[in-house]
Amino acid sequence: MQTQFLKPTQIEKAVQLLKDKEVVAVPTETVYGLAADATEEDAIVKIFQAKQRPIDHPLIVHIESFEKASEWALEIPEIAKDLAKAFWPGPLTMIFKKKSHVSNLLTAGMETVALRVPNHPLTLEIIKKLGHAIAAPSANMHKKTSPTSPEHVLKTLDGKISAVIDGGTCNVGLESTILDMTKEIPEILRPGAITASMIQKVIGSKVIEKKAHSEKVAGNMAVHYQPEKPLFIMSLEEIQSEIKANSNVAVVHYDHINDLFGATSYKMPSEKAAYSQALYQTLYTIDQSNVIKILVQTPPSSEEWNDVNDRLEKARWK
Ligand code: TXA
Ligand code: MG
Repeated sequence: MQTQFLKPTQIEKAVQLLKDKEVVAVPTETVYGLAADATEEDAIVKIFQAKQRPIDHPLIVHIESFEKASEWALEIPEIAKDLAKAFWPGPLTMIFKKKSHVSNLLTAGMETVALRVPNHPLTLEIIKKLGHAIAAPSANMHKKTSPTSPEHVLKTLDGKISAVIDGGTCNVGLESTILDMTKEIPEILRPGAITASMIQKVIGSKVIEKKAHSEKVAGNMAVHYQPEKPLFIMSLEEIQSEIKANSNVAVVHYDHINDLFGATSYKMPSEKAAYSQALYQTLYTIDQSNVIKILVQTPPSSEEWNDVNDRLEKARWK
């Protein structure tokens, strides 16, 4: 299959492909998603085929506005309305009990459905013009790093999908926060740019931050988001002694390093949002180079860095 590279002006073409039950990679503010019409099982199944994603990993349904949530969710608690008002469109996915018409392919046979309104004008327009929600996991092969640019999508999916539409690089750069609203106390299943404190401030009560999971949630498996090259997380001191011994490595750091001994430096912003935005793109760039490994300076441990630490822990060589 030849994968078409669509310009932002070719929205109609992307919509037509989706109507024809094809899969198209589309931009969101977090990462690129691999989209299919969420009401068409013949289309949804192509997402699993293209990504080689196990069918027991449920997909997120992307809707155009909060008003559409009731088409998918059986019950929407009052606090979910408040969260939608505060954070949609944006990087928060909420899990609800599903309505009976919602395909088991989307939900991996579970009684719940994940919903999100993405904050990207191109994709919101695609959803509106299609007239249906889109199912979209991150647009990468299973277990690989999520793409934050159309070029990065093609790295693993070229020839396997009908098209990618160019919506530039993603602003947030890490996958959405996943919040399970079906529990008495909402639970964060995957940390993201919307932190527990931000959620608690809106709902006025505590949320649970899950560390270990029993559910088959792709984003929660120990190995995930892996770049091609082995990645290690270290202090600056450890990095210094490593590069002294072997300089054919990439160093991803936000503090100044006195002597790089010839290692390749990828200086990251020290501000969290800018760091997140750059992280996957940096790993992608390093994968194209010929260093033998990636040394990442241990990020700060404060709450706003939870998503960065979570993804790096999953990307780490094991
Ligand atoms: O930012 C994002 O969330 C991106 C963009 C494209 O929206 N999407 C994304 O999708 O990261 P994906 O499929 O790579 O990760 C979605 C996660 C998976 O870990 C999946 O198992 C979980 O959401 N998920 C989906 N439906 C669920 C459900 N009903 N219950 C629990 N987890 C669910
Ligand atoms: Mg993914």
